[in-house]
Amino acid sequence: MKKHIALIQGDGIGPEIVAEAKKVLNQIAQLYHHTFTYEMVVMGGCSIDLFGEPLTDEMLEKAKNSDAVLLGAVGGDVGNSKWYQVPPQARPEAALLKLRKELHLFANIRPAYLYPQLQNACPLKKEVIGDGFDLVIVRELTGGVYFGNRKTETINGITRASDEMAYDENEIRRIAKKAFEIARKRRKQVVSVDKANVLDTSRLWRKVVSEVVKEYEDVTLSHMLVDNCAMQLVKNPKQFDVILTENMFGDILSDEASMITGSIGMLSSASLGEGTFGLYEPSHGSAPDIAGKNIANPIATILSAAMLLRYSFDLEKEADCIEEAVSKVLDEGYRTADIFTEGCKLVGTEEMGTLICNYLKEHNLKYG
Ligand code: IPM
Ligand code: MG
Repeated sequence: MKKHIALIQGDGIGPEIVAEAKKVLNQIAQLYHHTFTYEMVVMGGCSIDLFGEPLTDEMLEKAKNSDAVLLGAVGGDVGNSKWYQVPPQARPEAALLKLRKELHLFANIRPAYLYPQLQNACPLKKEVIGDGFDLVIVRELTGGVYFGNRKTETINGITRASDEMAYDENEIRRIAKKAFEIARKRRKQVVSVDKANVLDTSRLWRKVVSEVVKEYEDVTLSHMLVDNCAMQLVKNPKQFDVILTENMFGDILSDEASMITGSIGMLSSASLGEGTFGLYEPSHGSAPDIAGKNIANPIATILSAAMLLRYSFDLEKEADCIEEAVSKVLDEGYRTADIFTEGCKLVGTEEMGTLICNYLKEHNLKYG
């Protein structure tokens, strides 16, 4: 298979973790006879430094013309960086929102899975986690309050700001379908999360989701209010299979879900549109404080590359192999600093990538 991948290294630890994911992709290409070509797309703070804006039209075109995009992380230290001394639409994060909108990536898939090897890192009590949990958040990504009208105005000396939260039924329908399709490949349970006791957008959300599920008779749907969901995630995360929710609720709940895995450095994500094109990125940020030190955990980005192979290129076997390689390397006790516990072997960013590549090679020698 021949595919063209746009790589966005971004800022902070971005270049280091993307380099390891590329190494793994190249290893896969070699072992399974694929050709992956790459295009570097400059985005985020580094683009502000080079071009004076976080995402130029030329770079956006490059991303659009690829078969899939792999992103490290964008942004810097909000308190100190010069990238934040400009209006919001000129900051690094604005590039991410522009990219999502322009590429029509309305479905954000964020798995939160507790690795058995990393149970000690989970902040929840043993009796709460039991034998672990495995859930996925399906977050609407191009609507709601993130993209509504905004205004800050001063009238009679009083400054007032507003952000509009709007959804139309089509936006809700297409994300609901995605969630039900994903649930079909899993345990077939969807909890749709809203704030229908207060918000009109949520009442419409609940109505449309309840209609769409009729086309998915094998899937079970229930509804939960977002405040309750925040509580249930720490009380009993095992109850969840697929959580379907709107943009901002998904932003907040997905951080909570990643925290309870105890290892944000392990979590991948995919942002998808209608076709096979997608943007893949780790769930964590750019961690400027540890950038350039070869200590960041590249696993979330490597697992994002696995998701890329699965969702955009339909290379299921190759994706499985990467996930298995990650698990095996953890079994052998290798850990980057963020997931290190007593008795394990501490490795750096590059070594972690190499270990995963080595496992892929060995596995291929044995099983082809
Ligand atoms: C995320 C991030 C972004 C979001 C920020 C950086 C704009 O928090 O991907 O979850 O809020 O969507
Ligand atoms: Mg977020």
